[in-house]
Amino acid sequence: MEPSPTAHSLLLAATDHNLPALRSLLKSQTPNVQDPTTLRTPLHLAIAAFESSPPPPNNTTNGNGDGIKVDELSLPPLEKAERTLQLLLQNGAIWNSLDTNNETPGCIAHRLGLNSLYEIMVDAGVRAELLFGRLDGYMALGDDDDDEEEEEEEEEDVEVEGEEAPELVSEDKKEEETALDKAAEEAIPVTSDAYLSSKLEIDDDKILDEDKNGVMMSWESHIMSLTVQHLTPAKRILNIGYGMGIIDNHFQSTTPAPTSHHIIEAHPQILEKLSTSEISKRPGVVIHSGRWQEVLPKLINSNSEADGEELLFDAIYFDTFAEDYSQLKLFFTEYVIALLSPEGKFSFFNGLGADRQISYDVYKKVVDIDLLEAGLETEWVEVPVDSKKMEGDGEWKGVRRKYWDLEKYWLPVTKFIG
Ligand SMILES: C[S@@+](CC[C@H](N)C(=O)[O-])C[C@H]1O[C@@H](n2cnc3c(N)ncnc32)[C@H](O)[C@@H]1O
Repeated sequence: MEPSPTAHSLLLAATDHNLPALRSLLKSQTPNVQDPTTLRTPLHLAIAAFESSPPPPNNTTNGNGDGIKVDELSLPPLEKAERTLQLLLQNGAIWNSLDTNNETPGCIAHRLGLNSLYEIMVDAGVRAELLFGRLDGYMALGDDDDDEEEEEEEEEDVEVEGEEAPELVSEDKKEEETALDKAAEEAIPVTSDAYLSSKLEIDDDKILDEDKNGVMMSWESHIMSLTVQHLTPAKRILNIGYGMGIIDNHFQSTTPAPTSHHIIEAHPQILEKLSTSEISKRPGVVIHSGRWQEVLPKLINSNSEADGEELLFDAIYFDTFAEDYSQLKLFFTEYVIALLSPEGKFSFFNGLGADRQISYDVYKKVVDIDLLEAGLETEWVEVPVDSKKMEGDGEWKGVRRKYWDLEKYWLPVTKFIG
């Protein structure tokens, strides 16, 4: 089907980075039109315009901010493209729609190495995720009329990085699926309950659930080892999710050995393995059976009732399976705050969105902001991952879905601000 003449003009103006034409077309036209063959939106096209001829680097200053008016049409190509993206986004363009090549606009910018355009798309993703995250929160408050009115007022007030928030109530936006939703849907085909009652396949190099989803794989060992290096020395340790016991073994190998090492695990088969492991016999190891959501409130309760020394941890690690971002956020906003010692460090397996670079980068920024809001500051350590070698070695053979497809892992090391 041919796009309407105005939609066609919009797609063309985006490809040409024709800012005056775009401004005029956007007065009456949504920026979320798609080329019917490629499903590319104006955002895709504004970036893909460089597919056949890369832009020269931006080396001139523009008139923005220095009081000099410039002719937009004579700006350097990359700067025109940057302004095109900003204009489309300000008018409500959806940042993460997919074309027939399974690429978002940001994926194209990443593939072409167009860093400034990629960063614009990442920031757009972060803004959308933050707004959606908050919107979800507001919706959970209840659905009586008063609440709705309050929500609308608050939504209108939201500003991100000094910029007017995009319209939250537009139809386009309501239908927009967030990157985190997408990542979560793809990455978590099972619910936590279904996973915890499923029969696992436990091998030396991996654990798979009933549907062959990778629960834990030995290629993550170097990440676990480095995580321990960054979290220790630590006397008192709390680990959520035993899995293959890789990180717990690393914690136990540190010198001096931890004085107390609590492990929370919920899956019966993993618990059985843990109960007969070497680790379970080590001094100071305490195993808690059950979901952390049920175990931790009791632990905190016993803390407040204890006459003696309060139970705090110098290192906390979180790595579960079949749980979405809301659970990780709940963990650090409620429990890390209560259980981390003032000088302690917290980390988690940072794997959400890891099958698509832009989702991973958006998620990293969102989680960084959420951690800050919870009073925690994060240092991100870059860890190379040889994804190509893993592919060559057949690492993913027998695993239903490759949950990791990136060359770089960002290891979070988080502590209380100040
Ligand atoms: C990815 S593995 C952990 C791997 C571990 N970091 C290692 O080094 O081997 C995830 C573990 O979390 C456990 N788990 C999942 N949901 C949980 C929950 N709500 N509470 C406690 N443990 C949970 C799973 O059974 C699994 O053993």
